[in-house]
Amino acid sequence: MAENLVLYRKYRPQDFDEVIGQEHIVKTLQNSLSSGSISHAYLFCGPRGSGKTTIARIFAKELGCDGMDLVEIDAASHTGVEDVRALIEGLQFAPVKSKYKVFIIDECHQLSKSAANALLKTLEEPPAHAIFILATTEASKMLATIVSRCQRFDFKRLHVSEIEKKLAFILKKEGILAEPAVLPLIALNARGSFRDAESLLDKCISFTAGDKLITVKEIKELLGIVEVGQISKLVDFLLVKNSKDAIGYINAMLDSGVDLQEATKTLVFYLRQCLLLKINPEFLTPQNSGLSKEELEVIVRQITGLTEKNIQAMLEIFIEAEQKMKYATILQLPLELAVVEICSA
Ligand SMILES: Nc1ncnc2c1ncn2[C@@H]1O[C@H](COP(=O)(O)OP(=O)(O)OP(=O)(O)O)[C@@H](O)[C@H]1O
Ligand SMILES: [Mg+2]
Repeated sequence: MAENLVLYRKYRPQDFDEVIGQEHIVKTLQNSLSSGSISHAYLFCGPRGSGKTTIARIFAKELGCDGMDLVEIDAASHTGVEDVRALIEGLQFAPVKSKYKVFIIDECHQLSKSAANALLKTLEEPPAHAIFILATTEASKMLATIVSRCQRFDFKRLHVSEIEKKLAFILKKEGILAEPAVLPLIALNARGSFRDAESLLDKCISFTAGDKLITVKEIKELLGIVEVGQISKLVDFLLVKNSKDAIGYINAMLDSGVDLQEATKTLVFYLRQCLLLKINPEFLTPQNSGLSKEELEVIVRQITGLTEKNIQAMLEIFIEAEQKMKYATILQLPLELAVVEICSA
């Protein structure tokens, strides 16, 4: 049974000490548990996959609330006022086992206006046993009057190193090995979400089905990642203002099946790393950048002749090209124009 669970459910932390990051939140909640000063309403805001639902459930568990004393609703699919009314009716019943009854309302910003108003009324005078935990990725879309009634916790986007730590833990438990650069790559591509990282790892594991080693080559294929080497070669043409070869190279990439939009994204990502390294050579390491030592050495060589301003200008031009590519009739044209602009500057 457990074998078939997707990783993010199988490895959802069950206790506070399994939670990675979000120390400020865990600590405050633990303190309030030990001092017994529990609020009636909490607001958990922050990026997706950062632990809001996970921590809400652990907190409920610590309060002794499970089974009928724990009610979870997903406001994304239950947006209506009837849903909130049903919940409020349930409020009248005393908890079964615990002193409290915990209501977790996920994606709370999606409640309809009337539903949100009904919730607000309840928050104004909640029964003594009720504890609400409202979770949202978009606190700015919530009624200010609801927000002001809650104790608010802002969840942080997770660091690449934190995500890597969790992925390493999972691989160990699953008895699977990975080449050293695999986890940083997955962690980087998850853009701060544990859930996305764990789903990516899930895909890798099924992709490599059977063999017990995940290779960088496989994961790049799976993610459709454009090789950093290709991008770095393009940057070399730009540095010597060789628009002819740069444009030829872009078209050759397109012909060989490279997703140019992905390539442009990678280029922006690459130039950002150039900028970071220019500002402070210690900003990037193979551990935190997802780039190998050799790749970083190439960047260091490329940025010697450039100023921060040069890199900034290139970044802005390519960010704009990336946007324009979404609507372009000739996919490569915005990229070609960007090359011409840079090479003729
Ligand atoms: N801080 C964390 N430490 C360890 N694992 C985590 C953490 N946050 C998230 N995870 C992992 O990511 C999965 C998703 O987390 P969770 O459902 O708590 O995210 P969320 O913040 O509620 O996201 P969403 O806004 O998309 O609902 C969990 O099952 C768990 O495996
Ligand atoms: Mg959630």
